[in-house]
Amino acid sequence: MTILIAGGAGYIGSHVVLALLSSRNFRKTKFVIMDNLSMGHLEIVKVLQDCAVDLGQPEVVFEKADLLDSAALDLLFERHKPDVVLHLAAKISVAESVTHPALYFSNNVTGSQNLLLAMKNHDCKKIVFSSTASVYGNIDQAMPIVESQALMPANPYAESKLNIEQEIEKASVSWGLKAVIFRFFNASGASARADLGEWHEPETHLIPLILESAIHGKTLHVYGSDYPTRDGTCIRDYIHVDDLASAHELGVIRLLKTVPDRPATEIFNLGTEHGTSVLEVIHSVEKICGLKVSVSSAARRDGDTAVLVASNAKAREVLGWKPMLSDMDTIVKTAYDWQKTMNKSHQ
Ligand SMILES: NC(=O)c1ccc[n+]([C@@H]2O[C@H](COP(=O)([O-])OP(=O)(O)OC[C@H]3O[C@@H](n4cnc5c(N)ncnc54)[C@H](O)[C@@H]3O)[C@@H](O)[C@H]2O)c1
Repeated sequence: MTILIAGGAGYIGSHVVLALLSSRNFRKTKFVIMDNLSMGHLEIVKVLQDCAVDLGQPEVVFEKADLLDSAALDLLFERHKPDVVLHLAAKISVAESVTHPALYFSNNVTGSQNLLLAMKNHDCKKIVFSSTASVYGNIDQAMPIVESQALMPANPYAESKLNIEQEIEKASVSWGLKAVIFRFFNASGASARADLGEWHEPETHLIPLILESAIHGKTLHVYGSDYPTRDGTCIRDYIHVDDLASAHELGVIRLLKTVPDRPATEIFNLGTEHGTSVLEVIHSVEKICGLKVSVSSAARRDGDTAVLVASNAKAREVLGWKPMLSDMDTIVKTAYDWQKTMNKSHQ
């Protein structure tokens, strides 16, 4: 079997590849990482290729290619004939999507349409797609959010991801694509091996930013301390990246199984259901790292809502998925270990 991982040189994609490489269910599987390296890193691919050798798995193949290059996609499908695609390749900055919306619709939506066309042309009919829980929008919905709740994407990034979901649903109807779609909020933490982790440039996610403040003594701005939450700061749903990776593995297994009456496209939220406030994340960083974070209170940001957490009931029931590493201290410990590895290698 051959599995193609689009965006496999990025943060979540690389952890997904590691999970599959390490799994008994995917012995002797060929993994093809496809990435344009706009945000991914060749160093990450090398770590995965070394893991494959250590684990006695077939070589992990790397193809530098862009989703916007249909000819390159066609060649790649011709050469490797993937049976399943995991699609994680996307531009992911909400702020950038607001200033450059066209870039997001082109890269994310047109790119995904090209990928789906290559799949259709090469008779590859199984996809796991990493969507986002931001398709639900930033409004005060009932919490935790369930899959049937209203979809109201609040920015071009979220809208682009919803458009891709819709393209996948159309492909399911028109040419028999089978899909598992995951919606999740804040991927966080790092592999326990400390040689894979979050490496975004620029970094916009909260935990790496708090760690940076703690390590380099920079002041951290906390936007809003008067929300109706237990300590006044926003509550968000942080999922350890290895828990996301295990869900992606279960998604592939689900697609490979014959399940009577299974809908062609299945959508699952991946969440913790409870969430952590900004101040709780800061306290966890201070405890785990033994460092003080200097905090300054800033005004609320437009569009932020008090609480965003996703239900995991459907993923638990249908896939047997359970977050195992998503307690905040484990997330912070692994993220900190990775940060130290990064700092050492960049000295
Ligand atoms: N990080 C999060 O908290 C989060 C939350 C919800 C959903 N997601 C989704 O998960 C996926 C992975 O996110 P991530 O945090 O690992 O991001 P990332 O930026 O680390 O990884 C994305 C990868 O896709 C590649 N890529 C982007 N555009 C491409 C193109 N046109 N052709 C080929 N490769 C391309 C990048 O080089 C990068 O390696 C994304 O689809 C994102 O929408 C992420």
